[in-house]
Amino acid sequence: MTSALFPHDFLIGGALSAAQAEGAWEADGKSLTVADCAPLTKPAPGEPTRTVRFDREFLDHAKTADPHDFPKRRGIDFYHRFEADLDLLAELGSTTFRFSFSWARVMPNGDGKINQEAFVYYDRLIDAIITRGMAPVMTISHFDFPMVLIEKYGGWANRRLIDLYVTYATSLLERYGDRVKHWVPFNEINMSVKAPEKTLGLLRTGDAAFEQTMFRALHHQFVASAKVIEWSKQQQLDVRFGSMVAYFTTYAASSKPEDVLAAMQEDRLRNLLYLDVLNLGSYPFYATQYFSQNSIDLEATEEDLRLIASHPCDFVGMSYYNSAIAAANTEGLEITSANVHSVIKNPHLPANDWGWQIDPVGLRITLNDLQRLFNQPIFILENGCGFNEEPDEAGAINDTYRTTFIGDHLRAVLQALDDGVNVIGYTAWSPIDSISSSTSEMTKRYGFIWVDQDDHGNGTLERRKKLSFDWFRDVIKSRGASL
Ligand code: BG6
Repeated sequence: MTSALFPHDFLIGGALSAAQAEGAWEADGKSLTVADCAPLTKPAPGEPTRTVRFDREFLDHAKTADPHDFPKRRGIDFYHRFEADLDLLAELGSTTFRFSFSWARVMPNGDGKINQEAFVYYDRLIDAIITRGMAPVMTISHFDFPMVLIEKYGGWANRRLIDLYVTYATSLLERYGDRVKHWVPFNEINMSVKAPEKTLGLLRTGDAAFEQTMFRALHHQFVASAKVIEWSKQQQLDVRFGSMVAYFTTYAASSKPEDVLAAMQEDRLRNLLYLDVLNLGSYPFYATQYFSQNSIDLEATEEDLRLIASHPCDFVGMSYYNSAIAAANTEGLEITSANVHSVIKNPHLPANDWGWQIDPVGLRITLNDLQRLFNQPIFILENGCGFNEEPDEAGAINDTYRTTFIGDHLRAVLQALDDGVNVIGYTAWSPIDSISSSTSEMTKRYGFIWVDQDDHGNGTLERRKKLSFDWFRDVIKSRGASL
């Protein structure tokens, strides 16, 4: 147990993304994104998360298929309803709200020309967040890579993306850098390995050198992040930049030294590499060794490495949903889903209907590890659990499973604070039900606020408070004392 409270300046609230919430996929000049082309892939109970093979053939199909088949195109209509939605988040007492800009809304042609209508919308949105007493935390790119940049340049594999992204990102910083203090250049940058279309705009080609292409593309993102930070320093903006990895805490399957070694190796390539580069400013020895052993040439220039070393991020950003285990010999071991990964099932942990294992203690362990390794402030930018739920006959949603999940994880955060970890914020994913990133389901719900919509877009879109709404409001108000 702990008697710690969240500090007075702790940033607490919720996180959503443009692609999963806004809808309005072709309104006011916005162009198509990879998220707009992700169909519903509802897994059967017990089945691992299915993904679409995002190749040229699929892309051509998605461009002309019935728009109704792609749930993120409708989102939860946040684009038109954000004022009322933010009223609810303010009623929770949230001190922050994390959201993302849509690159395809701001620069629909991908050529650096700004769509002023997007700025009209984001001006209103950011002002609405601030006037309701919340500090905006803005992600510059969150899994909605513009299709036009795939068509014209082949995604982040092309070095030209660095400058295109810098133009896009600095246009946002120029306009909002006086009001938005916390910026996240790339959401869950470590998802690139498993979902390269989402983060890197790379089509699956079946090419043997795909891994090299993927790491080159990632390298371009590291350089772009550094360039944006450099620009902000030159402009003397009072802003902070965060890395952002989906942290899959990795335990050894047993105390066998070979399993411990396997866990160490997986932790490095799955999680740490990205923070080592973004927060410490260079490729770690194990990464350079991995590249040379696998004939991966990043084509990194001296100037790239200088930029990365000179402009690291100011805080460690992470999402935390589940942990994983690793073994030297995985034969015969049961597998389950951990977001985009398939991992070995941990017999000590429960899981939700999608197989994502629930592990609040892992969050405390992770926060302690990250503090020791990076010694920077840590921001938990996402944490939550998807549940399939329906209102009861009286119309209430008594989501005690959610208060248990979030409560256990918040207690772990308080314990980590008590351990001396410098956690500066926590934004729950997602305070309002939104479209699932991995499966495009509406019925994989995370919110304290229900949205009346099914997987196929039927429903009134009415918002309704769940039981967890009042519970979370009390947690925020009491700075965690009510937990
Ligand atoms: C993270 C993403 O990977 O997990 C979010 O940053 C996403 O965009 C969240 O929604 C939960 O995943 P899912 O697939 O259940 O929506």
